Amino acid sequence: MTPEARGVWFGGDYNPEQWDEKVWAADDALMRQAGVNTATVGVFSWSVLEPDEGRYEFGWLDGTLERLSRNGIRVVLATPTASPPPWFTLAHPDAMPVTRDGTRLWHGSRDTYCAAAPAYRAAAARMADALAQRYAGHPALAMWHVHNEYGTVCWCDHAASAFRGWLQGRYGAGGDGLAALNGAWGTAFWSQRYSSWEQVLPPRATQWLANPSHALDYSRFWSDEMLAGFCEQRDAIRRHTPEVPVTTNFMLPHYQVLDLWAWSREVDVVAIDHYLGSAGHDGHPDIAFGADRARSFNGGRPWILMEQSTSLIYQRDGILTKEPGRMLRDSVGYLARGSDSVMFFQWRASPAGAEMFHPAMVPHAGPDTRIFREVCELGSAVARLGEVVGSTVPAEVALLWDADSWWALENRGIPLAEVGYLDLVRADHAALWRAGVVCDFAHPDGDLSRYRLIFATGAYLISDEGAWALRQYVAAGGHVVMSFGGGMVDSQHHARLGGCPGALCDVFGIRVEEFRPLARGETVALTYGVAPLAYGAAALTGEADPITGGGHGTLWSEDLRTEGADVLASYAAGPLAGQPAVTRNSFGAGTAWYVSTQLDEGARDRLFAGAAARAGAGPVIAGAPPGVEIVRRHGDGGRSWLFVLNHTKAAAVVEASGVELLSGQPADGRLEVAPGAVAVLREHGSSAAASGTGPGRD
Ligand code: GLA
Repeated sequence: MTPEARGVWFGGDYNPEQWDEKVWAADDALMRQAGVNTATVGVFSWSVLEPDEGRYEFGWLDGTLERLSRNGIRVVLATPTASPPPWFTLAHPDAMPVTRDGTRLWHGSRDTYCAAAPAYRAAAARMADALAQRYAGHPALAMWHVHNEYGTVCWCDHAASAFRGWLQGRYGAGGDGLAALNGAWGTAFWSQRYSSWEQVLPPRATQWLANPSHALDYSRFWSDEMLAGFCEQRDAIRRHTPEVPVTTNFMLPHYQVLDLWAWSREVDVVAIDHYLGSAGHDGHPDIAFGADRARSFNGGRPWILMEQSTSLIYQRDGILTKEPGRMLRDSVGYLARGSDSVMFFQWRASPAGAEMFHPAMVPHAGPDTRIFREVCELGSAVARLGEVVGSTVPAEVALLWDADSWWALENRGIPLAEVGYLDLVRADHAALWRAGVVCDFAHPDGDLSRYRLIFATGAYLISDEGAWALRQYVAAGGHVVMSFGGGMVDSQHHARLGGCPGALCDVFGIRVEEFRPLARGETVALTYGVAPLAYGAAALTGEADPITGGGHGTLWSEDLRTEGADVLASYAAGPLAGQPAVTRNSFGAGTAWYVSTQLDEGARDRLFAGAAARAGAGPVIAGAPPGVEIVRRHGDGGRSWLFVLNHTKAAAVVEASGVELLSGQPADGRLEVAPGAVAVLREHGSSAAASGTGPGRD
């Protein structure tokens, strides 16, 4: 049987090499029971597939693919290059990674390689080539999954030499290039001037603060260097199987090593791994935060959820738990925002090894468990949602997303680093989520014209091109809300002179003269300003806030003066008392808001709702009860599906008509969704025909 081309992909990482044949037979039966139709195989199998250099043993993988194929399960076949075998380590000690402080790491975990080491790159490309040659034309092969979660940075001599090559590509070789590099890195400061290329090294451990421009280029270099490694494997694979899409799994939300805009141009479809960063209710906007980015990186097309967790989530600082019953709602949350798959790490919990207690679809306790029952319920639910595959999620609002700003903010010595790029963007995205406004992410230099409203949050670094794009956007009638610290530096991480937001001061009608970070836990009261109440101002000063009529700010404040903008809120106390805190300016045909502090949730919600209203953007359905998430996917021929996720403890009623796909029940103007439940409504006027062929290349 060949894998079904249509329908939602459902399954997860499958590691049969950790088990024996008796368990394989049980897996076959349990996968059928759960409705699994997709398995990701071979992610960490290098030492089994190539036990000694150049000696391949494909037998078990042949058998696995045959077995999965017989069961009608499509295979996402991985290259195992994220975990080189011990023989590789001992044969190529120079290819082992070196930390910033010069410690060379040994095997015993995973991702123990330098991705710039020639021996590693050659071995990885050979392995990809061998696998693709072997499995070209295999009926189960649906997609290639190169490597796993690229993101390991190294500071060794191979990295140094590759970095110099990259810099020469950027600044030019020879003396002129070196002069350009000295200028770009501001090496006149602290006597860092380079007089030959050999002196240029990775930003290794230093005595105190390091050069931020040097660090930014090293981040850019590593994203490009790893991408080159990905492309080598991808191209080796494409030579044998040009018809099979190739992807790699991006790790969201915490990995900041890759510029995912650049990477997304090189994969055939974006795939993400998503482990929630917050437990409880805060996990819901977190899902939207990951899903909206995945969709945006994939140019608005459907994407793949490659991994999520069935229950526990291991974070660096502890373990988060998902409440019972949440597996379906979380999974439908990803589908609502454009995923065409629901997949997990992993199918069966490992009996041994570093991640043996990581949850799985089949837990250690076996199939007679709540987790496996929820997996089966989920399998049967997603089987009813196949018709949404291929449909898209339009958005009128976008948040800027820029690896450069994130990288730049990772430096010690940068005042905003304390605040954290990810937290800032996540907080503003969550405000839009609470308002029911579906948003994309956009690159600052990209085409912004299709959005009514842009949020420039954490946009600390704005290049000249980005400033030009924003200026054109507003001049042409666009709406932009910029948060504090915007445009402080240019693309070389040099301070913008003349006040912030640098090249955009006239667009916002303000000039920030000084910044005043607030101490942890410190708040500053706000009051509404001198401008007539309208739009954002009316929202911001709503009577709902009894404290000051304007809410309060945390994290940061700024000493700004207006140069044409209206003041919507002012600082009510402290050294900046009476000075503007939130402003709004008309520029060309558009409007530009500036928010100089982190507004409390209520004030931010009101400001954002006001800006959205002025921009003519709104929620999918007006008046949805708080905590009820509503997203619409659109298909060909005017078909649409309304996804309703009730995150509350009360039944929710939404005005909508159509057929609810999970229950098969009609809804005629009134769709009731039980507490904690989900509904997927094929809206009236839509037909049942499938709209796509599943994830893959266009
Ligand atoms: C990542 C990896 C998996 C596994 C999970 C769980 O997403 O891809 O191999 O380690 O995390 O921690």
